[in-house]
Amino acid sequence: MRLIKVSDEEELSRMAAEYVFSKIKRSERIVLGLATGRTPLGMYRHLSKYSKEYKLLFSHVHTVNLDEYVGSRAYHAYMQENFFDHIGIPSNQTHLPDGEALELERECKRYEEVIKQLGGIDLQVLGIGENGHIGFNEPGTDFSSRTHVVELTESTLSANAKYFTHEKQPLKAITMGIGTILESKEILLLAAGVKKANAVKELFRGSLNENIPATVLNHHPSVTVIADVGARSLLEEES
Ligand code: GLP
Repeated sequence: MRLIKVSDEEELSRMAAEYVFSKIKRSERIVLGLATGRTPLGMYRHLSKYSKEYKLLFSHVHTVNLDEYVGSRAYHAYMQENFFDHIGIPSNQTHLPDGEALELERECKRYEEVIKQLGGIDLQVLGIGENGHIGFNEPGTDFSSRTHVVELTESTLSANAKYFTHEKQPLKAITMGIGTILESKEILLLAAGVKKANAVKELFRGSLNENIPATVLNHHPSVTVIADVGARSLLEEES
């Protein structure tokens, strides 16, 4: 696992955007796995700006998001507003799980099929939860899990409550499974702020721990972590 050290969230956003943009520029076709949350917001802002500056439409880019809340389109709206509206990507090339689907189990299978039909994910961008979750794979999730419905933990509900001022906060979500995420060819994980410090410390301990889902990344051959000073604070105390 490679660690890129940055000082703050602004540098993290720039580094992450440069990393992703260089892959997009170099490829004739690319499947990006995307994350939501606060952490990748700056990356999306920079990528949108680069797209305009370089006059590069993202017409050769396909995207698959990690997750969506059940009964909600909150992450659809987030992606549209913060990224898709700015980059000239055809709408049929962007994919998220449908949290409003009537048959959720069938929707999970459909989503797996979408990823398979695209030929798998070339680069998956991940954030990390305070409890070490990736996507919405909460502590205890089987490392071989595929796209599934999850009940969110107290920790995740309280960390994300701030995003639900106009809508009742959903208690469940559909998420790519850990097994699904691990099949990505390459992974870029972004971590910012002291609230992520414990999860980042556990991640770099190197051992696998189902109670801290991100530790599964120690099993993946190509992972890059970009972490700011806050997220690295406990890591550096140890070394
Ligand atoms: C949510 C998302 C995750 C994200 C996490 C951290 O739970 N499902 O994909 O990584 O939040 O979010 P933030 O970047 O806001 O801390």
